[in-house]
Amino acid sequence: MRTRIIAGNWKMNGTLAESEALVTGLLARLESVSSSRATEVVVCPPFTALSSVSRLIAGSAIRLGAQDMFWKARGAYTGQISALMLDEIGCAYVIVGHSEPRGRFGVPDPDFDEQILAYFGDTDAVINRKVLAAFDAGLTPILCVGETLAERLQNDTDSVVTGQLFLCLKGISAEQAETLVIAYEPVWAIGTGEVCDTEEAERVCGLIRETVARLFGDRAGDAVRVLYGGSVKPENARQLLARPNIDGALVGGASLKAADFAAIVAAG
Ligand code: PGA
Repeated sequence: MRTRIIAGNWKMNGTLAESEALVTGLLARLESVSSSRATEVVVCPPFTALSSVSRLIAGSAIRLGAQDMFWKARGAYTGQISALMLDEIGCAYVIVGHSEPRGRFGVPDPDFDEQILAYFGDTDAVINRKVLAAFDAGLTPILCVGETLAERLQNDTDSVVTGQLFLCLKGISAEQAETLVIAYEPVWAIGTGEVCDTEEAERVCGLIRETVARLFGDRAGDAVRVLYGGSVKPENARQLLARPNIDGALVGGASLKAADFAAIVAAG
């Protein structure tokens, strides 16, 4: 049976003091949480808090993830963070291909015109390099895929999701595919309070599993863990997590409150 993952993506939230308070609250709450199946809990704080959160969770069951990375190991890449650096600090996971660095926002910012949006320019080719570099450094990528509202309305959901998988997973081995985590995150559900219908989330997560099986074999299809992300809250988590193809959740907003995040972990 696949081990469930509940991962918290804190995004650009949390001063050092806030991050430490959040993880301390979480550690206290998770001690008393018991879920029906083995659950891996991952927190992904901003880069600046990784080191102190890493120290606080040492020896606990909580694992550390980063929110993004650059694919080169070192060099003249001002402002970038490599997988090597994340590994050294204690990260086990790294989110790659999130819709926000792809420039695809669930809640569009009126301040972001075309030129500004180009800043958030992660393409599938870039994300593919990040996936390969994460594996090379011994990190497990949490690869995000998902369609925008316009793509969904044009009935393009399946082709967008499979297309992203095909391009982002180029060149990985079947063994690597078995350890991979993929998050289905419909862009229109991120930060909007609009959760994807459970049956539809299950269907797309199933499609992701089938696609991995088609690309890397049945073993990889069985082993790959597929998460749902997009407005997951304590109120809707149980229903989503009960579906056979949904192995966990990538949680944004609700991961910033220890009580809510712990309740989502308990919903498993
Ligand atoms: P949300 O974000 O839970 O706030 O919708 C999810 C994500 O972006 O990973």
